[in-house]
Amino acid sequence: MDRISIIKPDDWHVHLRDKDALETTVPAAIRCFERCIIMPNLSPPVTSAELIKRYRDSILKYKPSNSKWTPLMVMYLTDHTSIKCIRTAFDQGLIFGCKYYPAGATTNSASGVTNLNGLDAVFNVMQELGITLQIHGEVTDSSVDIFDREKIFIDRHLTQIKHRFPELKIVFEHVTTKQGVEFVRDSDKYIAATITPQHLLFNRNDMLVGGIRPHLFCLPILKRDLHQNALIKAATSGEKKFFLGTDSAPHSREDKENICGCAGCFSHHAAIELYAEAFERAGALHRLEQFASKNGAEFYGLKTNSEFISLLRDPWRVPDQIDYRDSYLVPLGAGLTLNWRLET
Ligand code: NCD
Ligand code: ZN
Repeated sequence: MDRISIIKPDDWHVHLRDKDALETTVPAAIRCFERCIIMPNLSPPVTSAELIKRYRDSILKYKPSNSKWTPLMVMYLTDHTSIKCIRTAFDQGLIFGCKYYPAGATTNSASGVTNLNGLDAVFNVMQELGITLQIHGEVTDSSVDIFDREKIFIDRHLTQIKHRFPELKIVFEHVTTKQGVEFVRDSDKYIAATITPQHLLFNRNDMLVGGIRPHLFCLPILKRDLHQNALIKAATSGEKKFFLGTDSAPHSREDKENICGCAGCFSHHAAIELYAEAFERAGALHRLEQFASKNGAEFYGLKTNSEFISLLRDPWRVPDQIDYRDSYLVPLGAGLTLNWRLET
């Protein structure tokens, strides 16, 4: 098989950044996706209808007029998010969800939530209006080992949120552990999860053995291979609760190769090719369409896209770097040979 065609995919989790970064990130997002959920962790974060509108307009300036690509915006939750704030954004058709970052968990999350219980009223109104909660599922307690942050988040927080708001739609973003996969699988139809290409293709050995590879550092951090295998199984099994969310998150080369390097991997240069690689290795290329183009749309109550994309078996080498702002970034898989190439 040298050519496969699938329904055009969507990316249910991406960071486009703002200002001049959009010159790189918007064309990369349009390359193979029809719809993208745009994460709101700018500095300052996107916390109101007004800021969402402004951010969406700045993104749309980079969209060619003949493109059908659609950015789907989400609101960044803080300790001060009010019901009014949510209702205003919802009434104006501006939000596709609300993102919960535990304060301090990851890049630009300092304004995130410090007290989950303080959000009861917000979760209530989201449940009532059918607004999805996108969760960064990690605790930030400094006594918790970084490799256990996700598991402990499930035990301490997610179980409770699920119990108290049983019909709140939740996406467990970038799930990285066996426990996360099992929690989602064993739960009801109101919860699903996104899976990134880096967590399918790599594990912590790839990041740490023989030297530290800062371009594989992202949050939640890569885990050991048993977790990677659980994610591969979930993504390639055809189960409807798991779908594509790249978490593509650009940082300049100097910010990554730094004494305190930033978390985040940029994968939008070759997003679908990277997933195709992971699916082929698992002998499950025939399931790529379900994961990349069907499951997410179904969870969010949208139609699948009407166009198709094709991938050709035509091995190519991922470039070492890509222009980004006034510098460069090192893309995920730099230097590796990928088997599949998007037909343009
Ligand atoms: C993301 C970023 O850089 O914005 N980084 C990351 O490691 N994934 C933030 C996030 O999604 O956690
Ligand atoms: Zn992210």
